[in-house]
Amino acid sequence: MAALIVRGAVRVPGDKSISHRALILASLAAGSGRVRGVLDAADVRSTAGVLRALGAEVPELSQDFVVTGRGLRSLRPADESLDCGNSGTTARLVAGVAAAHPFASRFVGDASLSRRPMRRVAGPLAAMGARIDLAPAGTLPMTIEGGDLVGLEWATEAASAQVKSAILLAGLVAGVDVTVREPERSRDHTERMLAARGADVGVTDGVVTLRPRGPLPAGDVAVPADPSSAAFLAAFAALADGGEVELPDVCLNPTRTGFLRALARMGARVSIGGERDEAGEIVGTVCVAPAGLRAIAVEGGEVPSLIDELPLLACIAARAEGETVIRGASELRVKESDRIAAVVSNLRAIGAAAAELPDGLRVAGGAGPLRGQVRTFGDHRIAMAFGVLGALPGNEIRVDDRACVGVSYPAFWRDLNRLASA
Ligand code: S3P
Repeated sequence: MAALIVRGAVRVPGDKSISHRALILASLAAGSGRVRGVLDAADVRSTAGVLRALGAEVPELSQDFVVTGRGLRSLRPADESLDCGNSGTTARLVAGVAAAHPFASRFVGDASLSRRPMRRVAGPLAAMGARIDLAPAGTLPMTIEGGDLVGLEWATEAASAQVKSAILLAGLVAGVDVTVREPERSRDHTERMLAARGADVGVTDGVVTLRPRGPLPAGDVAVPADPSSAAFLAAFAALADGGEVELPDVCLNPTRTGFLRALARMGARVSIGGERDEAGEIVGTVCVAPAGLRAIAVEGGEVPSLIDELPLLACIAARAEGETVIRGASELRVKESDRIAAVVSNLRAIGAAAAELPDGLRVAGGAGPLRGQVRTFGDHRIAMAFGVLGALPGNEIRVDDRACVGVSYPAFWRDLNRLASA
């Protein structure tokens, strides 16, 4: 079998979480802000479309544009339902904004998003004073009748940056103090972006507090490369036989770099260079070179820092020595698909040994060829995780829906190929 030598540098597209927030905050700001390097993919287009439907002046997405915000409570009732597509971040974050506007908004989404839990966001927003209607299963369609809100102190059941951000945005727009306590620290981009605009937002003992005071100043945002997209190329490099891959401009916010830490723990050669601060986010170049990988255990407080990368970690665990165990990750069951069930059934379908746990999974490593058909359930990260395994010599993996990568990384297949053929 031919050895796989990887070589080259790929600047992966802009961070999805920061892109959503850049558009939302720019729409609410008092004045014009420049957005560079936004992710132009289906999920962020959903946020742009929903904001436009609410009257915000968000131009067509490109790599450099200006949004002119008209202030915190400047949105208008939409003529139709707000279509969030596949994007949980759109539905939950914009829900927070809509809750503080004095009109009704109806949120809908695709089949996957319409199965995902919304009570986690409806609960706190209702406690602030919004009137919220959900489908009986606690899912979309969700109608929010917003208005004057009161301040809130809320403890979330699961670490969720989307729920935390919905509460922070509701507090911001309504001008009321909000406090969120989480069982573990979730990604903190909303807090950083608000702080970069001078907002009074702080974290003490893991409790986030926002005390909004007046309008939100406009600001420019340079969106760094998405560590969750970079993870696929990093994993591919780690599993190669030789060479090295360079991933510049990656967001190295510690609430997002759990996968790189886990990959290093598995034995891959991961190094970081050129670190710098860009508008409150740490950004740098990630270099990854292959090595024999060994199994690890992932659990507890580190889970939120690699939650979106766990399907990928499980896939590369099928190529590591020993048994990898992931626990404390029941949130995976309510992502774009039930990612525990999807990963385990697909690993088995291609000949790897894996088992579901209620809150995670086990994967036994091996070296034999992996062959078969993978069902993505329309989930972009399932497609890319198995795409990485499929690109390794000796494996023959057919992914049923390759196009679903367009949700977060439209050029994924091209970039993956480029590293292999460099
Ligand atoms: C996100 C938060 C996470 C993550 C999602 C993006 C965000 O979801 O899985 O891909 O941008 O806030 P939860 O908030 O549900 O954990």
